[in-house]
Amino acid sequence: MSNPSILILPGDGIGPEVMDEVRKVIAWYGEKRDMAFDVSEDLVGGAAYDKHGTPLHDDTMARAMEVDAVLLGAVGGPKYDVLDFSVKPERGLLRLRKEMDLFSNLRPAQCFDALADFSSLKKEVVAGLDIMIVRELTSGIYFGEPRGIFKEGNERVGINTQRYTESEIARVARSAFELARLRSNRLCSMEKANVMESGILWRDVVTEIHAAEYPDVELSHMYADNGAMQLVRAPKQFDVIVTDNLFGDILSDAAAMLTGSLGMLPSASLGAPMENGRPKAMYEPVHGSAPDIAGQGKANPIACILSFAMALRYSFEAGEEAARLEAAIATVLANGARTADLLGPEGGTPISTGEMGDAIIAVLDASL
Ligand code: NAI
Ligand code: MG
Repeated sequence: MSNPSILILPGDGIGPEVMDEVRKVIAWYGEKRDMAFDVSEDLVGGAAYDKHGTPLHDDTMARAMEVDAVLLGAVGGPKYDVLDFSVKPERGLLRLRKEMDLFSNLRPAQCFDALADFSSLKKEVVAGLDIMIVRELTSGIYFGEPRGIFKEGNERVGINTQRYTESEIARVARSAFELARLRSNRLCSMEKANVMESGILWRDVVTEIHAAEYPDVELSHMYADNGAMQLVRAPKQFDVIVTDNLFGDILSDAAAMLTGSLGMLPSASLGAPMENGRPKAMYEPVHGSAPDIAGQGKANPIACILSFAMALRYSFEAGEEAARLEAAIATVLANGARTADLLGPEGGTPISTGEMGDAIIAVLDASL
């Protein structure tokens, strides 16, 4: 059998800087854990535009469709702000998501003990927090028709349509149930079935799939507005949350900030299973290209390294190795290593992007 394949798309700004550290981690798994990956690399975003006049070359798109996982850094930067919308760096990212049909967006909110002071919430509310929000990413109100701004009599009316088919709900629900099985076997589904028909259908379909396919998973339902309150009041009551595109956008951003820095947040976007049983998948940090610190060795590589940990768990059936990597990051932080974004008001001396990567590798070595 051939090795699992990874396509690395570093992109722009700090993307290549943080991806250098992920490459060290991938190499470590090859050398020390006998987990060899076929790694290829290509351009995306502004970097691809500079070379090809398009933010995603067709050859790169074709390669992304074939590999087991895409790892993306970040795209964009002020240099490209003047470009026409059709060739903006973000369009490269959107094309990947669309053509790979990545309907299930995984956004973990994980609070490392050493950083619990960073949260805007009390330390005891967030310390040890580890939850996962699964957001439906390819349908719902951001895509539904009719949409637009129309004239109605003497005034304008703005219209967006929340629309979900049964199969769209079913596939993201299955993805969330599968995740719950890999974690603590609990899933909370959020909608507004009290005021929206699409919410009623959402609740019905999730309930049906639970009964037919995942009766072993503990399922609960919550109205999304109450969910927002509960996420801030007592976030540790949750494990996996599944919700639609709009509610997921808002709830995942709120949950992310429970944990502090943007430089710490990974994500995954999953699609349908491929022939080998693995889902189509793209892993990327939540942050952007951070032009304000690009090229200075200041970027925190942890978000991107945690994205690779998600790839280990969700694409490469290596949950224990993912846990090893996450534990190494927790240890490095507990030992006091901080990139500039992780320094609190009391200050301290930051380490560089490369030093953070090296520190993680050193702890990985010590874990053997
Ligand atoms: P940003 O996430 O790039 O930066 C926001 C702030 O967080 C900046 O002060 C930055 O220095 C800091 N930051 C972000 N990641 C960090 C890290 N790993 N370590 C330390 N500090 C970090 O968002 P912004 O400034 O709104 O956008 C900058 C560019 O990135 C724009 O061109 C935007 O379109 C693009 N962008 C791309 C995304 C992607 O590729 N998925 C997502 C968000 C923005
Ligand atoms: Mg958002």
